[in-house]
Amino acid sequence: MTPVSEPLFLGVDVGTGGVRVLAVDPAGRVVAQATAEHPLHVPRPGWTEQDPRDWWQAAVRCFRQVTGQVSPGQIQAIGLTGQMHGSVFLDRHGEVIRPALLWNDQRTVAECREIEDRVGTETLLRIAGNPALTGFTAPKVLWLRRHEPEHYARLAHLLLPKDYLRYRLSGALATDVADASGTLLLDVGARRWSQEIIAALELNPAILPEVYEGPEITGRVTPEAAAETGLPPGIPVVAGGGDQAAGAVGVGLVRPGQVSMSVGTSGVVFAPTERPGHLQAGAAQVPPGLDPRSLRTVHSFCHAVPGLWHVMGVMLSSGGSLRWFRDTFYRREAEEDRAAGQEPYDRITREAAEVPPGAEGLLFLPYLTGERTPHANPYARGVFVGLGLHHDRRHLARAVLEGIALGLRDSLDLIRALGVSPTEIRITGGGARSPIWRSIMAAVMGIPLRLMAVDEGPAFGAAILAAVGSGFYPTVPAACEAMVRVGEKVPVDPDLARRYEALVPLFRRCYRALEGIFPELSTGG
Ligand code: XUL
Repeated sequence: MTPVSEPLFLGVDVGTGGVRVLAVDPAGRVVAQATAEHPLHVPRPGWTEQDPRDWWQAAVRCFRQVTGQVSPGQIQAIGLTGQMHGSVFLDRHGEVIRPALLWNDQRTVAECREIEDRVGTETLLRIAGNPALTGFTAPKVLWLRRHEPEHYARLAHLLLPKDYLRYRLSGALATDVADASGTLLLDVGARRWSQEIIAALELNPAILPEVYEGPEITGRVTPEAAAETGLPPGIPVVAGGGDQAAGAVGVGLVRPGQVSMSVGTSGVVFAPTERPGHLQAGAAQVPPGLDPRSLRTVHSFCHAVPGLWHVMGVMLSSGGSLRWFRDTFYRREAEEDRAAGQEPYDRITREAAEVPPGAEGLLFLPYLTGERTPHANPYARGVFVGLGLHHDRRHLARAVLEGIALGLRDSLDLIRALGVSPTEIRITGGGARSPIWRSIMAAVMGIPLRLMAVDEGPAFGAAILAAVGSGFYPTVPAACEAMVRVGEKVPVDPDLARRYEALVPLFRRCYRALEGIFPELSTGG
């Protein structure tokens, strides 16, 4: 048990794989933590769903564990974060109507077209900052209206994943500006719901929750939730942020000019900005080899830091591509490694390092689940280009590591085109753990990377927002100053960087050469 006097802040992350709760002290030390998994349902190819009640059950297990490890009286505030874009549909009694559609669900191609038709592509970009993308929330609501009218008729409240936990914890129907940016219903510049878009889509504005800034208090833990979770009743729940914005706060990304790269299942290049990012896009020069439309695939969202916005490029399968590769080409060895207490990815990166950069003429396009940035294309798929008899699985491994890095480089170049010029990139997520992959990524970016001393993901950022909401720190940058610590630097190897610079245009041409083929392949040819 920690001393009773020490204040603690909870960060709660509703991830795709599970819920994670951290208890963090004012110096940024994680003093207690818990995780609990929840199931993912794939009812059809390209569809992904979860039952919000499973999130709550997983969260209750975590809260119970954490409140068993610290004195509950120490907890000053709770910050929420989670997977973005998901649609929680509640009826007027607050009951879940059907499973939530998730951020990586691709079923809404027709509804995206409908949104662009109803709102107008330019108006949508001007107000919501983003084009209609299949993973975002608004197309999911239109899908419900079209395909499940009996469910739509009962729809009284639309929430984002973490906000369902807020509702269960505090009874408040609320969200934050960063997460709300991923709905397509927010006026990103004004940081409030867009009546214009809502009216054009003929949605009832009453279904939308109240929008707050990241560190603002949205409600307090109810006696019922306290009884279920072990949390003290009455403690404040702050708005928090979508997982990307909260994750960025967790690595101290609170000033324009900074850039982070998170390599988890998805891969994200993130940069805080002084003004909404899409407002800079008109004047931007498209990086060579990329489609002019690719600038629009950089998401332009509000940051969880009041007064700031952010831009980000999202690759849907970054670590996800490597996981697929491990499960497909290293299944037996991965089991052996795990049994021996070793990390299967270490074997893969070791083997990759046995072949030269460029994998002797092999490239990998990492679009296994479609893509968002730089190609907003739900039909894009993974490809190995250039296979020869001289290749074995080591080459494939190297090509996968390099292909993911090259895909992230596309996002970095787009962000640079919007006027951000980083001198260092803070790297987080599972991909930051491999020294070999890190040096590949530093060389592909041509910019040194910076590891974090503590890499606890979005829950850590949510705890920082809770620390600000509780009044312990006056601002998010002040809290980051006290709570976030960076680690070692990963330098750029100049020879490797030159080698990869030559691959960048080839990598871009490969996608463009295949672009027209993907939609037909998706229907079986
Ligand atoms: C961000 C995004 C993902 C999800 C899943 O736009 O789609 O980061 O939030 O974690």
